[in-house]
Order: sequence, then C-alpha cells, then structure tokens
Amino acid sequence: MKVNKKTLAIASVAMMISSGLAQAEAYKASTEEHPIKMVNIDSLEDQVKARMEKGAFGYIRGGAEDENNLRSNTESFDKKFIVPRVLQGIELKNINLSTSLLGIPLKTPIIQAPMAAQGLAHEAGELATARGMAQVGSIFSLSTYGNKTIEDVSRASEGNPFFFQLYMSKNNKFNEFILNEAVKHGAKAIILTVDSPVGGYREDDIKNNFQFPLGFANLEMFAKQSDDDSKTGKGSGISEIYAQAKQAFTPEDIKYVHQISGLPVIVKGIQSPEDAEVAIKAGAAAIWVSNHGGRQLDSGPSSFDVLPSIAKVVNKRVPIIFDSGVRRGSHVFKAIASGADIVAIGRPVLYGLNLGGAQGVASVVEQLNKELVINMMLGGTKDIEQVKKTKLLTLRDLEE
Ligand code: LAC
Repeated sequence: MKVNKKTLAIASVAMMISSGLAQAEAYKASTEEHPIKMVNIDSLEDQVKARMEKGAFGYIRGGAEDENNLRSNTESFDKKFIVPRVLQGIELKNINLSTSLLGIPLKTPIIQAPMAAQGLAHEAGELATARGMAQVGSIFSLSTYGNKTIEDVSRASEGNPFFFQLYMSKNNKFNEFILNEAVKHGAKAIILTVDSPVGGYREDDIKNNFQFPLGFANLEMFAKQSDDDSKTGKGSGISEIYAQAKQAFTPEDIKYVHQISGLPVIVKGIQSPEDAEVAIKAGAAAIWVSNHGGRQLDSGPSSFDVLPSIAKVVNKRVPIIFDSGVRRGSHVFKAIASGADIVAIGRPVLYGLNLGGAQGVASVVEQLNKELVINMMLGGTKDIEQVKKTKLLTLRDLEE
C-alpha cells in the first residue's frame, strides 16, 4: 500500500478512536442503586475489595507507611468506656439525633468527609453521594478533586445544603475561579484542607502504580477556560496532584479564602491545640479535627486521642467536626462526648456508594444512626446535647 498523507491521517484518526475507546472502557465503575444490608460497617470493605479494580481500591482503602495511624484511629476508641446509665427514664421513641452545624439543621450528627475521585466507586460519583446524604438529612462535601463539577453537585443536591472542600492551588487564579464557582452554585461553607502539603507515603499506590483513570471535573474546567496546562487528574498519581497544590500554609490563607468567598471557612486537618488556636484567630468558622484517615503522617497520634485537648482550647468558640477511624455508632457517641459537635465518615461512604449508589450511602449512615441510638439509650442520653455532657471513663478511672 502506498502511504500518503491521507492514509496516515486516516490511520491516526483510527488509532485515536480506538485508544479513546480503550480508555473509556478501561475503568468500569459500579452502577448499583439500592439500599444495602449489613451487619456492621467493617463488613463492607471485603465486599468492595472483591469487586473493585485493585488500584482504585488500594487508593481508597490505603493509609500511609505501615498504616499504624490508620489502625490506631479506630482502635483508640476502645480505650474509653461509655458507662451504662439505666435509671434515666428514657424511652427509645424519645431518642433524638437531630442537631445543627453553622445554622444548618441536621437529622443526624454524622456528615460525609470530603473525598476525592468518587467516580472510582460509582458511575454517578459525587452526584449519588450528594443524593444519599440528602436522603438522611445530612450534608455532602465536594472535594476539589471530585469527578463532578460544583454546578452538577448543586443540581443533584436539589436545595439540600452542601459544602465545598478546597485544596488551594499555587495559582491564585484557580483559587479565585473555584471559590467563585462554589459561591455561584450555593455552597454553604468552604472546607480548607491544610494537612496535605505533600501526600503521605502510601505504599498501595506505589505497588499498584495507581493513576486516576478519570479527570477531576473542576480542574478540567479551569484548564479549559484558562489555557492552563496543570495536571487535571486523569493519568496522574495523587502525589503529582498534591505537588501542584499549595504547600506553605499560613493563617493568611484562611483569611484569603474567607475574603474571596464570603463563606464560613472550616479549617480541616487540625491535630494540635496550637494549630486550632491559630486557625480560630485567623477567622475559622469551625475546626475540623482529622488526620486524613491515617493517609498522611503515619507516626501521628490517633485523631480520637488528640480530640479532648483541642476541644479544651477551642472551648466552644466554634464548632468542632471530627473524623478519622469512625466505624461504629459508639465511636460517634465517644467523639461527641469528647468534644466533637459533628462526626464525619470517609471510606464507609465510598463503600456504600460502590455497593448501592445513593441508597447505599444512605444505608451506611442509617447503620451508624441505628447503632448510635442503641448506645445513647444504654448510656442514658436522649439527645446530642446530653451525649456532649457524658463523661467517658478509662480503665484507670474505674480502678481508682
Ligand atoms: C487523598 C486526598 C486527595 O487523601 O484527599 O487522596
């Protein structure tokens, strides 16, 4: 065959189409949409592992280095006891889980922690999670590195409040663009994550050479309209994405985000009383106590262990949101009794999303609500305010 310009052009178009198809076919996310039955939250992980692509599962489940922090986040709850109180005259039907955050009424103290790339778990990704959280009367938070745009999440939320989580870029043009999008589409608060100036050393991602198979919608939108050549998710590993995000955080960044957006700024990733104080002085509307689900500093203490000293310094000036390691209703109870106003869950939401879509997400929150109600009843507390006043005991307290 004589190779001329025309045949070359046809061949390259054919190659583009087939590689496009190969890429489109390469990642198959779940399309399930139904409530899920479970005995407990922990049982979901193995079910998801059996069906999800290995790299994606490793990215979602994994923690940093030896995963000591990932494990201790959950194990540390066992060090404190809820003492049964049995003469409080409380009826099961009077147990009330409702509360509020920044003036937003919630049917449960459990919200969803922002998580990147939810398209790995389900085709509808963040849209399904937003619908699931709305179904249980709670809040959805969209990650900067989500697979859906703020506009689409806003539409899927149908008026239910949602937050936007910001990973600041080194490029203030992006920061302004994305904050304006959040304001325009009705986000109720900005969650400013400050604990990831670099990605933790996550060995599963290294072993699997994990690269995101899908783009981050907000980054793609910005790149398109500004001719920016930053990485936009697809084909990159998380470390490359973090490398182009802002690294040197100061209190000025909290002020900047508030100034640009006019929205309450929740500072996420606080693990020390000193940082909580700095964040409040800089205008934080809430403190989010989190060690990023054990994905960052493996040598750090568990998030539950640092909570009481942070709560003491915050001293109710602003609400405290707590996450990392929560897998039981009793963990929710213990976090609230230790100073949290609101408790967030991460991985379990993605497992619910993978196994049952929006309804699967709702099932996860319902499971934790169900366990929380039992713990409240047996602990002699009828509402969240009473849980806040409960004193948890340690073995040492009991032996004294
Ligand atoms: C992570 C980020 C993106 O933990 O939040 O992977």
